[in-house]
Amino acid sequence: MSKITLTVIKADIGGYVGHCSVHPELIEEANRVLEENGKGLLEDYVVTHVGDDVNLIMTHRKGVDNPEIHKLAWDTFLSCTQIAKRLKLYGAGQDLLSDSFSGNIKGMGPGVAEMEFEERPSEPLIVFMADKTEPGAWNLPLYKMFADPFNTIGLVIDPKMHQGFKFEVLDTMENKKIVFSCPEELYDLLVFLGASNRYAVKAVYSKSGEPAAVSSTQRMNLMAGRYVGKDDPVLVVRCQSGFPAVGEALEPFANPHLVAGWMRGSHFGPLMPVSCKGATPSRFDGPPRVTALGFQLAGGKLVGPQDMFADVSFDRARQKALEMADYLRQLGPFEPHRLPLDEMEYTTLPQVMEKLKDRFE
Ligand code: 13P
Ligand code: 13P
Ligand code: MG
Ligand code: MG
Repeated sequence: MSKITLTVIKADIGGYVGHCSVHPELIEEANRVLEENGKGLLEDYVVTHVGDDVNLIMTHRKGVDNPEIHKLAWDTFLSCTQIAKRLKLYGAGQDLLSDSFSGNIKGMGPGVAEMEFEERPSEPLIVFMADKTEPGAWNLPLYKMFADPFNTIGLVIDPKMHQGFKFEVLDTMENKKIVFSCPEELYDLLVFLGASNRYAVKAVYSKSGEPAAVSSTQRMNLMAGRYVGKDDPVLVVRCQSGFPAVGEALEPFANPHLVAGWMRGSHFGPLMPVSCKGATPSRFDGPPRVTALGFQLAGGKLVGPQDMFADVSFDRARQKALEMADYLRQLGPFEPHRLPLDEMEYTTLPQVMEKLKDRFE
C-alpha cells in the first residue's frame, strides 16, 4: 500500500456570533462538498471547528502540497463562504485572501499542516486545533512533548525515543528555516523557541527522519499586509511506539501557558484545553482555546474522533486558566495583558500621535 498523507486545512470563513463559533450550516456544507468532490480523491475526512475556525481533517494518497487536495479544501471554503455571506456571519470569507486558486492553498490565507508517512501496524495520532492565538503557541508544548523528560518519560525509558528528535524551526519574519538536533542542541533551540511571536516549530522528526509532528505556520497578516485575525493554528502529532505516548502528547496542556491572541489578536491569555463542545470562546472573545481530537488510522480511515480534552483530568487546567484570565483581565489595557505595541494586530498609536504631535515639548 502506498504511503498515507494526513492533511489538515483550516480557515475562518465567518464567525457565529462575532468571533465565537461556526454556524452549523457551514459544517454541513463542508461535509457535503468533501463527500461529493472528495470521491476518488480522499480516503476519509472529518470536519470540525474550534471557535470560529473550520477545520478539514483529510487522509489521501496524493502526498503533501497536492494541488487537487488543496483545491478541494479551497472550493469547500468558497462554498461555505456563500452561506456565511447569506447569513451575514461575521467576517464572511475573512481568511480567503484571493479570488482564484493558485495551485497551493499555502499563502492564500488558510492554515495548512500535512505529513506523509507509512501507516504503522497501529497508528494513533492527535490533531490539536487552537483559536484566538498564533502558530508560536505550539512551541512550548512541542518542546515538552519531544525534548523534556519531566513531561515525556519515554525520552528516558523508551529505547525507541532515547536518541531524541529533530526540530524544524521557522523564522516567520524572514521565512527561513533551521533544524536543531536534540538533546545535543537543546540550549540553541530554546533561544529561538522562547521567542514564539517570531519563531515557530514547523515540524518534528525522529533522528532517522520519520515525521512525528507538523504544524501550520502561516502568517496571514504578513501576507495580507493588514489585520485579518490571528493565524489560529493546527498541529498533528503521531503517538506511541517511538513517538510520545498519547498521554505524553496531552500532558503539556495540563498547565495552561500564556499565548498571544485573545481579544482583537492583541492580548496575552492562557491557552485553555477544552472539549469540542467547549470550543466557543466568548469571554473577552476568549480565553484562547485548544481542542485535541484523537484518531487511530486504519488503512487510511480516520477511526474516531475521540475528544481528548473532554476528560475530567483536564478540569483543573480549565479552572486554572479561568483564574489566570481573571487576573490578567484586571490589567485592562496595560501590558503585559495587552501585547507590546509592535506586536499588536491593530493600534491607534499613529493617529493619536499625529493629533498630539505639537503638544510634545
Ligand atoms: P508504546 O510502547 O507503544 O509507546 O506504549 C507505551 C504506553 O503504554 C504509554 O503509556
Ligand atoms: P479570530 O482570529 O479568531 O477571527 O479572532 C479575531 C478577534 O479579533 C477576536 O477578538
Ligand atoms: Mg474570526
Ligand atoms: Mg479564529
